[in-house]
Amino acid sequence: MAEATRKTRLAVFASGNGSNFEAIAQACADGRLNAEVVLVVCDRPGAYVCERAAKFGVPVFAFRPKEYASKEAFEREIVARLDGCGAELVCLAGYMRILSDVMLGAYDGRIINIHPSLLPAFKGAHAIRDAFEYGVKVYGVTIHYVNNELDGGRIIAQRAFDYKGSDPDELEAMVHAVEYPLYVETIGELIAGGRLLKQ
Ligand code: GRF
Repeated sequence: MAEATRKTRLAVFASGNGSNFEAIAQACADGRLNAEVVLVVCDRPGAYVCERAAKFGVPVFAFRPKEYASKEAFEREIVARLDGCGAELVCLAGYMRILSDVMLGAYDGRIINIHPSLLPAFKGAHAIRDAFEYGVKVYGVTIHYVNNELDGGRIIAQRAFDYKGSDPDELEAMVHAVEYPLYVETIGELIAGGRLLKQ
């Protein structure tokens, strides 16, 4: 198939709500992204992201980490499934685990993550709350390549916004409203750059 019309095959990893997954899947459905989500990987069976995936007809690999001997063991199964569906770009979206060398080795340079702060500030699972409690006035979102460090890896894109209010719920909503278009646009740019194609 001609490269211009061929859809890039995305996998999305999530542990919970999955609103970023939905933003990506919707952009694929609308044609804003020349891509399709071929697999959702979820380490919490029953997480809401699984329901969202069903709505979009996207297959889910949901697993219980405790049922495997090690992280490497469940990642070997993930890699086999990613290879099986020809995934070209792995998008972490609220996947609450550090990846091991099994995943990083297999998909090196083709794994990205979204984080709700201006990295390297406020790494970790509670970035929005931590920034708010610190009294930050300029918030933002980062998309970065993934390595074996928590929220580490080279930064691909960032978007900042001012917030001087005092309502954490309002702030969180603003962060998410920045996340969705930034993730979709960044994936689009990576696809357009043509560096994801398996040789
Ligand atoms: C997002 O804020 C993302 O930046 C962070 O985890 C959250 C996931 O939200 N890594 P959702 O599951 O996509 O709704």
